[in-house]
Amino acid sequence: MRIDRLESVDSTNLYLKRFLEKREDIAVFSDIQTNGMGTKGRSFLSDLGGVYFSVLTFYHELPTSEAFRIMAHAAVAVCRTAEHFGIEAEIKWPNDVRAAGKKLAGILIENGFRGDLIDHSIVGIGLNVRNDVSPLNGIAVSMKNLLSVPPRVVEVRNSLLENYLRPSTFEEYLSHVHFLGKQLQVTEGEEHYFAVARQVLPDGRLEVERDGMSRLLSDAEIALCPEVKR
Ligand code: BTN
Repeated sequence: MRIDRLESVDSTNLYLKRFLEKREDIAVFSDIQTNGMGTKGRSFLSDLGGVYFSVLTFYHELPTSEAFRIMAHAAVAVCRTAEHFGIEAEIKWPNDVRAAGKKLAGILIENGFRGDLIDHSIVGIGLNVRNDVSPLNGIAVSMKNLLSVPPRVVEVRNSLLENYLRPSTFEEYLSHVHFLGKQLQVTEGEEHYFAVARQVLPDGRLEVERDGMSRLLSDAEIALCPEVKR
């Protein structure tokens, strides 16, 4: 696979969109992004010291019902990478990767469709390694905040690529999901409510229990409620 390494780019996801017509799988890393993109139209802080990585993959026969596999695989690749450097990582549904209760990495997936098939995906991963995340007011963490000797960015980059290129299973995804059975605050559109996380289904939906009733979430945000110490 072609792998491009850039010093600076607007966004590694946008960069790959410029190659869609070639129909060739490509990966790209950039040292910084000037217009890093997050989910839901948010921006993603992309200063020097982080790993900003995107992969464009074309599929032959992948039904849209399998889209979650792409997301789950990306989250697993990040968890493997964090663990390779001695950091215990967990997945916050659907695919934020957290360590020490804070966001270590964000994932933005942009799929292209052909009928009921996924034609291609652009998977973008931003992983905090040595970058300063203090502007994010305590919600994010960098590897350098968790390790006495943080790895070099290039080592993390290589590990992420290696882990991304190795296949993963749904079971491996689930092994990094630690919030089942816990109380969540759920935001679905304008609605906010408390619920208990029950299970993640193979299609990616999260089953929660709200007032004794089961509910399946596909497009919602969750926040873990702080545990009450007894
Ligand atoms: C999020 O948590 O909101 C998702 C953040 C995704 C950031 C990565 S960095 C590499 C790729 N390029 C982008 O512009 N965004 C993704």
